[in-house]
Amino acid sequence: KLEKIWLTFGITMLVAFLVILGISTFAFGLEPPSHSHTIDPEKVRETAPFDNPGLRMVGDGEYEAVMTAYAFGYDSGDHPLTVPAGSTVEFVVTTPDVVHGFQIPGTNVNMMIVPGEVSHIKHMFNEPGEYLILCNEYCGGGHEFMHTTIVVE
Ligand code: CUA
Repeated sequence: KLEKIWLTFGITMLVAFLVILGISTFAFGLEPPSHSHTIDPEKVRETAPFDNPGLRMVGDGEYEAVMTAYAFGYDSGDHPLTVPAGSTVEFVVTTPDVVHGFQIPGTNVNMMIVPGEVSHIKHMFNEPGEYLILCNEYCGGGHEFMHTTIVVE
């Protein structure tokens, strides 16, 4: 008798689980398209502006640096990025693969790069020098080698 109750309970739980799984799959399938600021991670390299990463002057002393973070490096087009002292640079970064970091030690530049999401951060570089840009999110076996530089002249 007890066995039968447990069997019934087990089957009920299994059915309930399958129903929940079915509903969640269905609901997920009906989700609206992703936000306009997100990109299909598999299409990052074909999607503007990431199809042509690099540094662009967007105003007097203002630059935009479009970069793609990937395991394990940064694609910034020109290398190294070079700007005159006093420039403001807006970094526009995404990734096609896994979560990465984007940090410039000694500045307030520190952001998480999520696959398909476009992250922005602005910084004014007053002091000439070579600034390290590095990944501060563990992203796999090449994480510690993931870095690049920006040169301020
Ligand atoms: Cu990319 Cu760690």
